Amino acid sequence: MSQTPVNPVPQHIAIIMDGNGRWAQERCLPRLAGHNAGAKAVERTLKAAQKAGVKILTLYAFSTENWTRPADEIDGLFKLLEQTLSRYTKEAEKYGIRLLVSGAKEPLPPAILKQIDQAVSATAENTQFILNLALNYGARQEIVHAVNALLQEGKKEIQPSDISQHLYQPSLPDPELIIRTSGEERLSNFLLWQAAYSEFYFTPVLWPDFDEAEFEKALSAYRTRKRRFGGL
Ligand code: FPP
Repeated sequence: MSQTPVNPVPQHIAIIMDGNGRWAQERCLPRLAGHNAGAKAVERTLKAAQKAGVKILTLYAFSTENWTRPADEIDGLFKLLEQTLSRYTKEAEKYGIRLLVSGAKEPLPPAILKQIDQAVSATAENTQFILNLALNYGARQEIVHAVNALLQEGKKEIQPSDISQHLYQPSLPDPELIIRTSGEERLSNFLLWQAAYSEFYFTPVLWPDFDEAEFEKALSAYRTRKRRFGGL
């Protein structure tokens, strides 16, 4: 008789936080109001993840494709990120959170780059939890970045482990679970390499409505997934 598996709590969860715009539209609010509400959902999720025993959260905050959005939305998003980074840098100590940022530096504004450096170095010794913000992130770009680094090292032939060791955050394990909100069911250039054996959880809930109860539903779905990693 086959038994229902009970997977341990994932160490690393990655989230595609989608639906801020639609949440705002449903309320006749500007899109930025959706992103502001999304930032609150980030805080709730961070607390829920820590409470559940998750150790790493990777959040897709801004993709390499998001530059095609209207300038005022991009400016507003970056202001929000600046505020969030500055608050988290101050609060990270209290909760033992280490901040990491994954993505290409170009063409991020210098003020944000400086703040990222400060946040990353100020929290480097914290060991309770890792919050990895995917910012100006694209998975294809990340893989190309790894291959270019290997070429520069003079490698003539590469193994999968060589790519893994040259990703933006080589020390992070692959996420066991990837969540996407808002009913869309695709990866959108997120963690293409790391997602090889990730479980996916899609929910119609819009990101600003995501909370501890929704997070628990995702964990509960993951718990009973059969993870075979290509075996039987
Ligand atoms: C996708 O919703 C969301 C984003 C492009 C930005 C994510 C940003 C936040 C959640 C705000 C703050 C983040 C942090 C880390 C503090 P969308 O705008 O594509 O929504 P739509 O598909 O409904 O238009």
